[in-house]
Amino acid sequence: MSSLVLAYFFNYRKEKERKNMEKEKFYLTTPIYYPSANFHIGHCYTTIIGDAIARYKRLSGYDVFYLTGTDEHGQKIQKKAEEAGVSPQAYVDEIVDNAKDLWKSLKISYDKFIRTTDKEHVECVQKIFKKLYDKGDIYKGEYKGLYCTPCESFWTESQLVDGKCPDCGREVTMVSEEAYFFKLSKYQDRLVKYYEENPNFISPQSRKNEMINNFIKPGLEDLCVSRTSFDWGVPVTFDPGHVVYVWIDALSNYITALGYLSDDDSLYKRYWPADLHIVGKEIVRFHTIIWPIMLMALEVPLPKMVFGHGWLIIDGGKISKSLGNYKDPRDYIDTYGVDAVRYFVLREVPFGSDGNFSEEALINRTNGDLANILGNLVNRTIGMANKYFGGIVENTKVSADLDRALIDEALALKRKVNEYMNDLEVSKSLEAIFDLLRSCNKYIDETTPWVLAKDETQKDRLSTVIYNLVECIRIATVLLQAYLPDTAESIFKQLNTELTGYDTIDSFGGYVSGTKVNEPVVLFKRIDKEKE
Ligand code: MSP
Repeated sequence: MSSLVLAYFFNYRKEKERKNMEKEKFYLTTPIYYPSANFHIGHCYTTIIGDAIARYKRLSGYDVFYLTGTDEHGQKIQKKAEEAGVSPQAYVDEIVDNAKDLWKSLKISYDKFIRTTDKEHVECVQKIFKKLYDKGDIYKGEYKGLYCTPCESFWTESQLVDGKCPDCGREVTMVSEEAYFFKLSKYQDRLVKYYEENPNFISPQSRKNEMINNFIKPGLEDLCVSRTSFDWGVPVTFDPGHVVYVWIDALSNYITALGYLSDDDSLYKRYWPADLHIVGKEIVRFHTIIWPIMLMALEVPLPKMVFGHGWLIIDGGKISKSLGNYKDPRDYIDTYGVDAVRYFVLREVPFGSDGNFSEEALINRTNGDLANILGNLVNRTIGMANKYFGGIVENTKVSADLDRALIDEALALKRKVNEYMNDLEVSKSLEAIFDLLRSCNKYIDETTPWVLAKDETQKDRLSTVIYNLVECIRIATVLLQAYLPDTAESIFKQLNTELTGYDTIDSFGGYVSGTKVNEPVVLFKRIDKEKE
């Protein structure tokens, strides 16, 4: 590379960094997934929602850092690798490659993919463990407990359901070994105070009540944080034979990914504390009890919010790698398209609740909303612009009373979507966008362009009608970029517009009058249920 090109690249990066620094930052994370088997639609669920939030925040002017990754250590992975006759590293490498490919197919715009086997992560976890030990918050003892191997969780007798693991219903075994413990109990009062002072830290509210009643009120027990019965983990530097037990290793990823305690901690300084940790409901307790206490002990600021979402379930039960009741998510992408899958996940289930996943529900959403409402509207509008005006969309400003309601709805959309997204009501924000699209279809039925087209004196009125539709579609599409990036790109191409920014939809009429639209392209074909 010539020095000129290098200098250009360097300046470009500096300029980008400078512009980002002027923006408000937003750091959000998904959990890091266990690469014990290839990922299913449940993992896609969290990651797609995180992606829509990340894209929306970027669109609305934030400097976003979106982190995802894999949680690769532990006994379960070690066992799986043994069964497969490969080393644990080789075992996880293959699944991680597959996961990265899946995220690419789903257009996940993560800024970093962290693996707990990354050298930087391992070194940082070792420093964190040592720091907590030196402080006296980690001590050596003996562990006796009921352990669920598949879930890598210890349980107390009272937490078991019918004597079995409350998460997966399988057998637990009594284990006893020398182990290090983390003094959770020491920080209990400070944690409760943090909950009180930061009422949104645990969201939604129902999850907070669960934490307080089930874990805090009975009193926190110290946590086992090292193991000696397997070696696929981060070694404890000062006590060979011990590996860091999974939650300290896993939770630390949110700061190790930013270079905490490393030579270059610029990302950490810029993005920490996290604005949002998105996690499934079964791991809320780790993120709202162990994680804040770890950070308090490290004297590091606490994240602003942990949002515990529900599960996608199949036939009333959890989608499970071990039950094998699911398809590779790429099968759905290949059959229905990436945005059909994204839309389903984002729209079908209110964020926070459980929701059923089925191919039938996916087809219904795709046909009902994407093909009938969005696809049809764009197709009809562009088709009419081509048919009646050779593609030229002109704002002739021949208005009628019924235009006002549509324009007002279009103008209110940005504020509505923004409020919903700030409250993480992702499904409702999409519903608001689709309400506008529905109103556009109604507007076509009411203005009857095909009747106007027969009357030469109504030509200018017809032109205004089509302009209003095009501008509404543009406004909706600016926002849709966060949810359905491919579809949005295709619509902008069909509309032949570069006015795609968040700041272009504060007023009505941004679409440049006199622009020639392109030929219509079918966005979503109706799916024949029987055939699929
Ligand atoms: N490795 C831990 C997380 C460590 S984070 C510091 C873990 N991994 S996991 O692979 O079992 O689950 C990761 C996430 O995927 C969890 O938030 C979990 O809720 C989510 N999901 C797994 N199956 C799911 C569904 N069927 N539906 C929605 N989310 C699901 O826990």
